[in-house]
Amino acid sequence: MALIKVKDLAYGRLRAPDLDVMEEFLTHFGMVRAARTPNALYMRGTDPSHHLHVTEKGDPAFVGFAYHAAGEDDLGRVAKAPGASPVEGTRDPVNTGNEPLRRAGVLMRLPKPPAPIKRIGHGVLGTPKVRETVQWFRETLGFICSDDVYAGEKENIIGSFNRCDRGDEYVDHHTLFCVTNERAGLNHMSFEVPDVDAVFMDHEYLARLGKYEHMWGVGRHLLGSQVYDYWCDPWGRVHERWADTDRLNATSGSNLLPAHEALVSQWGEDPPEKFIRHVSP
Ligand SMILES: [Fe+2]
Repeated sequence: MALIKVKDLAYGRLRAPDLDVMEEFLTHFGMVRAARTPNALYMRGTDPSHHLHVTEKGDPAFVGFAYHAAGEDDLGRVAKAPGASPVEGTRDPVNTGNEPLRRAGVLMRLPKPPAPIKRIGHGVLGTPKVRETVQWFRETLGFICSDDVYAGEKENIIGSFNRCDRGDEYVDHHTLFCVTNERAGLNHMSFEVPDVDAVFMDHEYLARLGKYEHMWGVGRHLLGSQVYDYWCDPWGRVHERWADTDRLNATSGSNLLPAHEALVSQWGEDPPEKFIRHVSP
């Protein structure tokens, strides 16, 4: 029985010594500034959340991920977990419109890149303790297994894709992926863009800028099925843009798969070594 069941990923939190440089990267990436203080940068997408990416001023570091609790009761409950801090006041959301695209009689004319980021999708942690880390997230925040991946013996879990438990409601195939690594840290954080066009068009846009290191993509994952593209921020932290994920609900079940079948793309190049081994501490 999990302590609570989180609804979704809320934001990723990093540290960087230069908030101007970070804001420029995230603007090129497709986010919009929501707020800026002397010590922190808050960036948003087109969905109503006030922000989905926070950068605190400081030495480069991955601070963590934040998740939406279902309500204040759950927040109070999880605040009593070992190591948890007390509940603090929260910020009001800022709403925006989000008009669906209707194509009947309408010519396709794409907006200039970058396409705005819509929402944060998932966070990926590298860890030497996949089993223990995943167990904590399942027991504390109510994540459920979508796909566990093993190498060699079936007990040797090297990666675990987990989704939020929102009952009958359909959620992203994974909001949390934990993957084995010698060091603990951030592998990547991941953001949804409006559609597949946006993934490709903005891949070209970011490449043309010539300012950022490209990590991997474009391709389509097998597990989760997203069309993906991965870029590094100016301090080497990997940010993914994706469109078109699989959506599952609590009854969709869980799988156990060998790595050679699971960690492949449906099309696109294999992940480079530098991506597989990557963690930002
Ligand atoms: Fe991802």
